[in-house]
Amino acid sequence: MKSISEAKKEAALRAVRLVQDGQNIGLGTGSTANFAIIELSKRVKAEGLNLRFVASSYETSHLATKLGLDCLSLEYFSQLDISIDGADEIDPELNLIKGGGGAHTQEKIMHSMTKRFIVIADSSKQVKTLGKAFPVPIEIVPCAKSIVSKNLERLGAKKYKLRVSANKSGPRITDNGNWIIDAYFEIDNPLKLELELNKISGVLENGIFARIRPNAKDCLVV
Ligand code: 5RP
Repeated sequence: MKSISEAKKEAALRAVRLVQDGQNIGLGTGSTANFAIIELSKRVKAEGLNLRFVASSYETSHLATKLGLDCLSLEYFSQLDISIDGADEIDPELNLIKGGGGAHTQEKIMHSMTKRFIVIADSSKQVKTLGKAFPVPIEIVPCAKSIVSKNLERLGAKKYKLRVSANKSGPRITDNGNWIIDAYFEIDNPLKLELELNKISGVLENGIFARIRPNAKDCLVV
């Protein structure tokens, strides 16, 4: 039986095989996406592929650059050929929770402009219902913390907490300079909750991907 790490790598390999010369590629964030970045760098070197990359986080752009893949800024793109990313939870309809790495805002922007959104994951990410184990990450403008919290209660959040930094006191700051609230919900309608959360003033983006989802053939779970 494959370890989780082997399964992530296998899913990443399958995704990278779909990439063709001349394409614009969106790079996701997280340990599974990192495997794809490593495999892409090997293909670029071995086959001399001419690809353009955009990254969904500083972490991703640092790894890609270290491996010789220069990343252009997302702001210059309005269409990508393929974007490859991991997920925290995947339900049977391929609705996702993302944002374990706090990069879901840029990830959603990136995947909204891609022709093919490829999700790569090990099978532990498959769930019957979103949100049973994993919270919904919500990126907020810092001054909106109290009013967002009040609205999370209105929408039925069972529990919520500000994500704190591991290496400094206080909130974890996103790549956009904002904060993240992780909220636990019973999610019976992912699309409705995704849209409702984004209606709250001060919410930049949440980690439910129901509006933007992969096609079945592009959800590569090993
Ligand atoms: C980052 C994400 C990641 O794709 C998600 O957290 C999965 O991470 P990993 O591949 O490390 O399990 O959404 O914002």
